[in-house]
Amino acid sequence: MSKRQRWATKTGLILALAGNAIGLGNFLRFPVQAAQNGGGAFMIPYFFALLVIGLPMMWIECAIGRLGGKHGHGHAAGMLWLIWHHPAAKYVGALGLFIPFTIGLYYVYITSWTLGFSLFSLLGSYDGLATREAMGGFLRGYQGVVRNQHFGSVATAYLAYLFTLGFTVFVLLGGVAKGIERLAKTAIPLLFLLGIGLVIRVLTFGTPDPAHPDWNVSSGLGFVWNPDFSELSNASVWMAAAGQIFFTLSIGWGIIHTYVSYLREDDDIALTGMSTVGVNEFAEVILGGTIAITAAVTFFGIDGTREIARGGGFDLGFQAMPVIFQRVPLGEMIGAIWFLLLFFAGITSAVAMSQPMVALLEEGWEMTRQRAVTLVTGASFVLVQPIIFFHAYGFLDELDYWVGAVALVVFALLEIVIFGWIFGIERGWAEINRGAAMRPPTFFKLVIKYVTPAFLAVILGWWLITEVPAKLMMQGVSPQARPYIIGARVMIVGLLLAVFALVARASRGWDTDAIHAVAADGDRNGDCDRDNDGGQPR
Ligand code: ALA
Repeated sequence: MSKRQRWATKTGLILALAGNAIGLGNFLRFPVQAAQNGGGAFMIPYFFALLVIGLPMMWIECAIGRLGGKHGHGHAAGMLWLIWHHPAAKYVGALGLFIPFTIGLYYVYITSWTLGFSLFSLLGSYDGLATREAMGGFLRGYQGVVRNQHFGSVATAYLAYLFTLGFTVFVLLGGVAKGIERLAKTAIPLLFLLGIGLVIRVLTFGTPDPAHPDWNVSSGLGFVWNPDFSELSNASVWMAAAGQIFFTLSIGWGIIHTYVSYLREDDDIALTGMSTVGVNEFAEVILGGTIAITAAVTFFGIDGTREIARGGGFDLGFQAMPVIFQRVPLGEMIGAIWFLLLFFAGITSAVAMSQPMVALLEEGWEMTRQRAVTLVTGASFVLVQPIIFFHAYGFLDELDYWVGAVALVVFALLEIVIFGWIFGIERGWAEINRGAAMRPPTFFKLVIKYVTPAFLAVILGWWLITEVPAKLMMQGVSPQARPYIIGARVMIVGLLLAVFALVARASRGWDTDAIHAVAADGDRNGDCDRDNDGGQPR
């Protein structure tokens, strides 16, 4: 087996993991989720989900990743097969390849918008579009949803996409240390610098509209931070909070496994996992929450902010924020900084989404990195076409619902059951603690074994009852959009089958001795929790 790639430095790894976690989810999705779900009312379930899902899942995925890396596996399919000796394990793990690859298709595209808008802001291309309606026309023209005086086609968006994809290829070709780590070491510090600068600017907005004295910075901060206990009985707020934790921490994606597999076998993961969560939460709650929500409340009031949030993350980030920046001095520059911040956040996550599949092709198909990167990004380019051209028909949203929300929870639930019940909590806990630079509190053992799986099962059950049937039956979808929604579903199923086939072929070369080595190590470290051992290898 060829020597595995490694992170060059510990700081590099933390920045890369942070780069993977901090993304558009922190700056576009979080403020919208918080505003849609009652601001302060959202934060209690949010922190609960962080503790009960986010942190334990981060540790579990780090533990599985490091163990996988030790035995030459850089993707969840090989890793889950190592810890559960059953043919189904590799197909459960295949979700950890399918999910990041599929989300990556549209994530790169959305990241490319931020680059386009950063330039537009700098060049003053949308100057004078001072209302949300006018900016909305600009955005829809750019997306190719309508043709108007701003854009006659989707060509500009297409160019920005090509550039962004090209940049992703360039980074991936550099490999783990010279590509991904280098990018993170530059982009993440810059992101924090820009983010803190924007927070300071937003906090000095004051009360810009004398006609609305209650539209001001303190109302914005109060909207997020005043807890509202009355909403705690509303199940959908809890579901939204949990969904946000999955998205923002990249939990249940399969990426953390891949990144951590480039550690050495006794490197700490306990503190590394917790630091990643901490850095992401700072970016999300302090930067993401303050910038967009406070700015929106200051200029549009709380009711206006809720209304913007109902339109989704793109309305907040690409319509409302540019309108706000046009109303403050040096707005062109501030707007450019906002979109550049989004670009740094997006690109470091976008790169991460391709790496698990690159690892599978390199390790399981014995391809060179160049060939693996070319194939993965080439396939992405082909598959993104319907996402770009059928945006108006909800193609992207359909992928995002099934893969970017439902599939994450399905994968996480299966994974935690395999880890806590089949591999065994004693072995698992010992694995989390091996080489640990901090001792995770022991009550997390109970959380991992009982509380998190139960919470995940409730989330899935709730969705299955309240949302999924209507979604499946395409309720509320216009007759013109239906063929495109069906097309998106065909693409999801096709991609899933393709990933299964890639994994099945790769698994022919997997070393079964590694399974026994993992079991023996686990027994030495843990408490011989063999009762739940699965069947035969493969
Ligand atoms: N975790 C990444 C984000 O927040 C994917 O966007």
